[in-house]
Amino acid sequence: MALRDNIQSLLGQVSELKANNAEELEALRIKYLSKKGEITALFNEFRNVPNEEKRELGQMLNQLRQTAEGRINELKEQFEAKKAEADKLDLTRTPDPIALGTRHPLSLVREEIEDIFSRIGFTIAQGPEVEDDKHVYGMLNFAPEHPARDMQDTFFVEKEMGVQKPTDVLLRSHTSSVQTRVMTSQKPPIRVLCPGRVYRNEAISARAHCFFHQVEGLYIDKNVSFADLREALLYFSKEMFGPETKIRLRPSYFPFTEPSAEMDISCNICGGTGCSFCKGTGWVEILGCGMVDPNVLEACGIDSKEYSGYAFGMGVERITNLKYRVKDLRLFSENDVRFLRQFESC
Ligand code: DAH
Repeated sequence: MALRDNIQSLLGQVSELKANNAEELEALRIKYLSKKGEITALFNEFRNVPNEEKRELGQMLNQLRQTAEGRINELKEQFEAKKAEADKLDLTRTPDPIALGTRHPLSLVREEIEDIFSRIGFTIAQGPEVEDDKHVYGMLNFAPEHPARDMQDTFFVEKEMGVQKPTDVLLRSHTSSVQTRVMTSQKPPIRVLCPGRVYRNEAISARAHCFFHQVEGLYIDKNVSFADLREALLYFSKEMFGPETKIRLRPSYFPFTEPSAEMDISCNICGGTGCSFCKGTGWVEILGCGMVDPNVLEACGIDSKEYSGYAFGMGVERITNLKYRVKDLRLFSENDVRFLRQFESC
């Protein structure tokens, strides 16, 4: 008989009832036990059962209702127990301390450089890391065959995937590219500091990496002289490495400056007396600089008869190495917290 089958099938269902929360449980109660519930419907059908079967089916129906009620109560108790457990949480307890992150040593040093130069009127300028040949080399007076453009040094961006032909889109290999961006978009006087990441096609080792950071400085105005450059760099060196610091400028060559120089500071480890760090010389090199070549000014639309300027560029990793004795460049990009945590108090 259909009623008997229905009772048996519902009995199977209700003894396995599952609910994830009180709302789901209430929905189950309504489904089976409410006035319009499935079990109540079976009780209504029971009225039509012939007398000789009433006794047996009546018992089955009662068992079904008890099983459903029993299971629903059991689930209800489980939820109540969980809630009671949650209510026991002591929300007034002092929380576990949250470990604070540290600032990256390269950021610390870059910010210090920015801070020192901002005190003498430099503002920050930025340019794109994906650049074109013109801004990185051409306008900076690099001859067309200059070796710096070579694939060995520069990462070229291939326009079409799989095409090995170099294009004139590249990852900037120095922040001097920001000079050309600023000079073509602003009128002198210009006094900017350009921090940023640069890329070179180098094998990664303790002493070289395929990306690193530079800070470029540029000052263009009427009557800017080499003495102004020297004064600014001396001021910077003393602020960065301490008032005892001495500087020396050695003649050098860069396509975009004339004359050009490299600057050493007195070794900040031995104070200039000579140690293994400065290879006994008492001096360590920290940057390249010079007077902006008139060709560069003209290429950027600045009248080189009216204006002159100086530029300098330094490696942030190099300065960080001198300040914090980080010998292996790879540490800067490995995100090893044992290294980074050492800068906690800085
Ligand atoms: N761009 C040079 C480099 O990457 C550094 C440099 C040297 C920048 C002399 C300058 C400069 O502005 O005047 O090695």
